[in-house]
Amino acid sequence: MSGPRKLFVKSYGCQMNVYDSNRMADVLAPHGFIETAAPDGADLVILNTCHIREKAAEKVYSELGRIRKLKEAADRSNRHMLVAVAGCVAQAEGGEILRRASVVDLVLGPQSYHRLPDLIDRVAREGRVVDTEFPVEDKFDFLAPPSREATRARGVTAFVTVQEGCDRFCTFCVVPYTRGAEVSRPVAQIVAEVERLAAAGVREVTLIGQNVNAYHGAGPGRAEWTLGRLLHRVAEIEGIARLRYTTSHPADMDDSLIAAHRDVPQLMPCLHLPVQSGSDRVLAAMKRRHTRTRYIEIVERLRTARPDLALTSDFIVGFPGESDEDFHETVTLVDHIGFAGAFSFKYSPRPGTPAAVMADQVSDEIKVERLARLQAAIDRHQAAFNARTLGMTFSVLLEKPGRHPGQLVGRSPYLQPVQVMAPPDLIGEIVAARIIEVGPNSLFGVLDEPLKPMRPQRAALAVAGA
Ligand code: 5AD
Ligand code: SF4
Repeated sequence: MSGPRKLFVKSYGCQMNVYDSNRMADVLAPHGFIETAAPDGADLVILNTCHIREKAAEKVYSELGRIRKLKEAADRSNRHMLVAVAGCVAQAEGGEILRRASVVDLVLGPQSYHRLPDLIDRVAREGRVVDTEFPVEDKFDFLAPPSREATRARGVTAFVTVQEGCDRFCTFCVVPYTRGAEVSRPVAQIVAEVERLAAAGVREVTLIGQNVNAYHGAGPGRAEWTLGRLLHRVAEIEGIARLRYTTSHPADMDDSLIAAHRDVPQLMPCLHLPVQSGSDRVLAAMKRRHTRTRYIEIVERLRTARPDLALTSDFIVGFPGESDEDFHETVTLVDHIGFAGAFSFKYSPRPGTPAAVMADQVSDEIKVERLARLQAAIDRHQAAFNARTLGMTFSVLLEKPGRHPGQLVGRSPYLQPVQVMAPPDLIGEIVAARIIEVGPNSLFGVLDEPLKPMRPQRAALAVAGA
């Protein structure tokens, strides 16, 4: 292949897509593609799409409308712009995308990214291509590792996929259909990837997967490892000061993982543990396989293991059949747990999922009203959580220049952005910062002295119902 070509990748949705977008850039780099920050002037545009909630596909089609204009402009100046749609909308819609959007040359599902260079050649030879197969080969065996420079440019925090897909089939969710069956990567492959990241200066790694705590990868001697055991191993890698993992299913919080929150100091004291609803009736209809009481018990065990643990969650309002009483149970659960933050969504029927054809669909009017009420409760707890940080000293991993000259911004153990006055050579360091102001989107801190590495503070931040 000839000369450098410009690649623009736009990611929608979850961290898994951010990770996949980086992997696509890595696989294309040896073929002369250099990433650019804007689609105009790009030789290859990839939209890495998300299908989890409503309007995702519509958003993609309207973005494709904008890209069509850029492609036409490129044609006029005798350049060719190749347009690819990847991710879960690609997996779900397949050839329909080619029919609806003539601008698209290539449609590829999440299991095909390692074949991108070949697929691009095929488009050049044969014209438009759709590849949404679940191949027999393991794409991770074929995905190129990032160059040291690419890793550096992406910053001091990184995601690492440890498992993909999901076997749980919650009745509202498309993931088992778009991402396929649950597959865990072998321990050695993950360790090698984290070692490479650490060698390039990464300090914080988030292990990701659609149902990350269902992890059951092959360890040395082919023994199956749990996520808890994997966290212990990854924590041993020199240079990795902080670990996180997401997203977890409550029913897969096993003893080894709960113990890791007590025993692995690098594991940050915050956990995203989607509950979806506080009503047992709705949880059963969602096939979540845990009850409200079971969720509360798991949280209690986690808080015993790690008293300063902060919890965040996902909620769906207006699931088919959700009554006022059911919804009330969700609000009381929010108050009972005292989440440090949460995402809440109106239920949206996803074609092909069991809940989409359930009777008793809830009207949009009711969903809107419930969403506002739930969001208000969540916001109240989040504001209280942030307010409690005032005057506390946190370890902050400094990530990049901040909002104002002379400032750097980093993250607290709880993922809150913290702005501090600090010289740029402290990027990548973990410092102690005392919080002197709590803003709506950031905390403001003053630096104590740099600490490397610093043990996370144990603070009574996440008290139930407080
Ligand atoms: N409707 C609304 N929200 C959904 N989510 C997943 N599927 C749907 C759906 N059909 C939400 C869940 C999940 C988060 C990633 O997206 O809360 O945890
Ligand atoms: Fe979807 Fe998560 Fe349920 Fe799997 S566990 S089906 S990813 S909501």
